[in-house]
Amino acid sequence: MTFIITTPLYYVNDKPHLGSLYTTIICDSIARYKRLRGEKVIFITGVDEHGLKIQRTALKNGVSPKEHCDKISGIFKNNWIEWDISFNKFIRTTSQEHKKVVYEFYEKVKASNDIYMGEQKGWYCVGCEEFKDNPDNSPSYKCPIHKKNLEWKNETNLFFRLSKYQGAIEELIQDPEFIEPKERRNEIINFVSKGLKDFSISRTNLDWGIRVPDNSNHTFYVWFDALLGYISAISSDDKNISLDLSIKSGWPANLHIIGKDILRFHAIYWPAMLISAGIKPPKKILGHGFLTREGQKMGKSLGNVLDPEILLNKYGKESVRWYLLKDISLGSDGDFQDRRFVDIINNDLANTIGNLLNRTTSMSRKWFNNQTPSISEKNDNEIITLANNSIKNYLNYLDNYKIDKASNEILNFATNVNLYLNKKEPWVLIKDDNNINEVKLIIYNVLEATRIIGTLIKPILPEFSNKILKQLGENDISNKDWEESLKWGLLPESIKLQQPIPIINKLDYE
Ligand code: MSP
Repeated sequence: MTFIITTPLYYVNDKPHLGSLYTTIICDSIARYKRLRGEKVIFITGVDEHGLKIQRTALKNGVSPKEHCDKISGIFKNNWIEWDISFNKFIRTTSQEHKKVVYEFYEKVKASNDIYMGEQKGWYCVGCEEFKDNPDNSPSYKCPIHKKNLEWKNETNLFFRLSKYQGAIEELIQDPEFIEPKERRNEIINFVSKGLKDFSISRTNLDWGIRVPDNSNHTFYVWFDALLGYISAISSDDKNISLDLSIKSGWPANLHIIGKDILRFHAIYWPAMLISAGIKPPKKILGHGFLTREGQKMGKSLGNVLDPEILLNKYGKESVRWYLLKDISLGSDGDFQDRRFVDIINNDLANTIGNLLNRTTSMSRKWFNNQTPSISEKNDNEIITLANNSIKNYLNYLDNYKIDKASNEILNFATNVNLYLNKKEPWVLIKDDNNINEVKLIIYNVLEATRIIGTLIKPILPEFSNKILKQLGENDISNKDWEESLKWGLLPESIKLQQPIPIINKLDYE
């Protein structure tokens, strides 16, 4: 079975920001988790390059749209590589391969008699690339997301018969698995209940787009074009790229991860377009919340946009991943706070996990000839039960994409292991030779629990995980059967332990 997971295809009006990084990191951790569970994963990301917003941005910068897109797309791709994002496909909607798929798809929708020419009048937000419902019809009405004036449009456009799919969409969204979380699903149920209206899928007066084949003064509406990137990406590296080949290679997508602002496109327009073309809709849409900074919306004009590049240099990728994945409940809005960031990294990663590893390997080295202890029996139900419960909860959370809960489960386990160590006080017991076997067992148990922590944390913090496991003497970290390695008691006895070094540096608050 192939597991297809996607990020949104990001607009190239600007380089990546914290919001795009957030979505991409969520997808990355899920993709890594699925691979560890033995699934074949196609992790798709990429860029959305057409439309009025991009055309205007290029014009403002005094370059051609093509030049602009080449530059920003390159920045996106390089950024994701720098962040160690494990994507398999990076699709550009300006590629010839993608265009071919859009044409093939359009023909299918046309053959279903779902395209017609009509009059499009309404208020348009260029930032969202979307017509907005404007209750009072006043020109001063602003986009609630971009806070910018809407623009009046009155054009003859091609329309897609969305209204025909009212019943099919109602049926689809009845399935509680299709849209998550619940609040997002309710928004969509409410919107659909008001009746779906046909929407325009072409633009005149806009050059920067894919030309509609039989109406060459029209270009495709950017969303009609971009959503198809999820499909064209699948066979994008094949010289025989085609809609059919992509579909045969694993469609439908298992999971679209998106921000809540683009839910309608993914949960309504996109499935209806697919059904019209005789293609299966995606299996799940997961809408995450919005990030603010120190309680304020991020924006260029406010001067508080968090540049991922700066975060990477200042804090390192693993710290940022931990904060975003562990501290923000997936589906809810979240706030990025510098003070909290520093506290969380120092408490969770440096103290609770890092120190546990550090002090236990130090004790083991000191008392057992630089090695892990050898023990007569491995049974201590207290800690084994703790470990097995945490593993079970963790897998269950990740199977349901509750990444924050899964991360907290690891942390709780680490806290409990610290408590176990403090309660057992091996540093007191070691003073009496009669206690040597008991001390060996305690140290073995804590080291083994730390190995489990290092294994569990792998999809969330891959580098941090490798560092923990290396310090515990594991060398062939990548080739192991991950689930198998979660079994208790696999830490070898009497193997050499290196001099411990901090696995993460403590951060200072500036
Ligand atoms: N190009 C469309 C998507 C097309 S998918 C076929 C688009 N691009 S975007 O670059 O504007 O947004 C990409 C994602 O970033 C969206 O899911 C959006 O919700 C997310 N975010 C943008 N700002 C955000 C925050 N401040 N916080 C969290 N995510 C936010 O929409």
